[in-house]
Amino acid sequence: MRPSPHRANDRPGDGSEPTVSNEEVPVRNLSRQRSDSFALRALVVAAVAAGTLSASMEGGLKIPVGFQHWYLANSMLATKEPNQFGLVTGNHLIYVNRVGFARFTQGGTAPYPDGTVFVDDVRDFSLVDGVYQQGVRKAIPVMVKDSKKYPSTGGWGFQAWAGGDPAKPIVNDPTKQCFSCHTSRKANDYTFSTYLH
Ligand code: HEC
Repeated sequence: MRPSPHRANDRPGDGSEPTVSNEEVPVRNLSRQRSDSFALRALVVAAVAAGTLSASMEGGLKIPVGFQHWYLANSMLATKEPNQFGLVTGNHLIYVNRVGFARFTQGGTAPYPDGTVFVDDVRDFSLVDGVYQQGVRKAIPVMVKDSKKYPSTGGWGFQAWAGGDPAKPIVNDPTKQCFSCHTSRKANDYTFSTYLH
């Protein structure tokens, strides 16, 4: 599976305004990702969803400016080894903003507060002399919590941009493309990432 969103592209946030607060979290994450069977399915649908683009894409979401300076909540390296889910390969770096930080570290089943944003910065990689080196951006999937605006998808707005290009959103049916899988994580307010102490 080599869908169209997986391309080299420009830097994040170009020309975009944040949809919510971009407060930075001055904490460095040292924890590693908890991986489970669902992890292998990450962003499969985001990948296959590449299609007709529209100015009126779902939710009017935008790539948050400066998300790389948020808290690195989770990471996952999906290698190029074959996998049964047709996983989108890449180095997934997942960030959470300050609004959601407390809930993220506390865990439990409480919903994230409105204004929480998660960003998955998906980057290509190459193995050079035994070292996995990070490469160009492949996609930026985002989740924004707004319980009033997105009641039908667990209170989360979903969007993803091919190559991290603000002009290339790929989600026009968030229920089908995104929520269908995230709904399995209802007990964690529809998110996969968990805090590793
Ligand atoms: C087939 C299952 C599946 C689908 C479909 C899916 N995701 Fe995810 N998503 C995951 C998994 C698994 C993770 C955790 C990845 C990891 O642990 O690194 C994740 C993580 C995320 C995160 C980080 C927050 C979290 O839950 O940990 C965001 C943001 C995200 N996805 C957005 C999207 C968007 C936007 C779409 C639709 C375009 C989408 N996802 C579709 C499985 C899926």
